[in-house]
Amino acid sequence: MSWGLENRLSRIIRPETGRTVMLAVDHGYFLGPTSGLECPNSTCMPLAPYADTLMLTRGVLRNCIDSSVDTPIVLRVSGGNSVLEEDLSNETIITSVEECIRMNAAGMALSIFVGAPHQHQTIANLAKLVDEGERYGIPVLAVTAVGKDMVRDTRYIGLATRIAAEMGAHIVKTYYCDDFEEVVRTCPVPIVIAGGKKIPEREALELASNGVASGAVGVDMGRNIFQSDSPIGMIKAVRAIVHDDVSVDAAYDIYRSEKADSGAAAPSSGDLEDDRKV
Ligand code: 5RP
Repeated sequence: MSWGLENRLSRIIRPETGRTVMLAVDHGYFLGPTSGLECPNSTCMPLAPYADTLMLTRGVLRNCIDSSVDTPIVLRVSGGNSVLEEDLSNETIITSVEECIRMNAAGMALSIFVGAPHQHQTIANLAKLVDEGERYGIPVLAVTAVGKDMVRDTRYIGLATRIAAEMGAHIVKTYYCDDFEEVVRTCPVPIVIAGGKKIPEREALELASNGVASGAVGVDMGRNIFQSDSPIGMIKAVRAIVHDDVSVDAAYDIYRSEKADSGAAAPSSGDLEDDRKV
């Protein structure tokens, strides 16, 4: 692994704890202005100081994120589809590695859809992206979306994460499932947990806690942070779990005290069906 790639990886997975809290705000690449991300600048800028990385598209980065931001960037580089399409697996690479270099990305994120109609295309996309990433020293985060008919179980998640690792991904993002230790055991690269569709804050904190307790190196969480009634409370609470191994109860107290201090209003209701299971 080149020094540059190791250095970029260390900006994603923090060396102090070996963990990471990635903030996923790339949903618009196929969902459009989903709830909580209507105005990316006002959503992301207050949260950026608490995130180890921002995962987003080049369009949001260029137009909505201040270039003075310190938080490392992981660019979403696969896409080309929308929520209007039943089969979301027909993705291609939508951002070149040169653009990622120009935008000072610490990493590149690409989805694979194991078991979906375009699985071959997306897995081949990943392999090509890893070639580029290795050439220029930019780590690749493989996002394993779940096939519509796929059950989020050890067998399927284990298959998808292992394929991503075999293709050379440096980090794999996937969904938590029962017996997640088994998924970690059979995947030779670090795993981060997606938050999935918005659930009550305490359950989301339990998800993060179970994930790291099972061997994940952290989370790449989006909706369960930015759709919370206290996004800063949630990201602070998630950080406490991921980086300081605090209990769910203690983390939930962090969320609640931040919410009380900020006098948080109730969030707007969800809009588009955004629990993508592909
Ligand atoms: C959209 C994605 C996004 O990258 C992200 O993973 C969603 O994060 P979360 O599930 O925590 O909102 O994969 O399909």
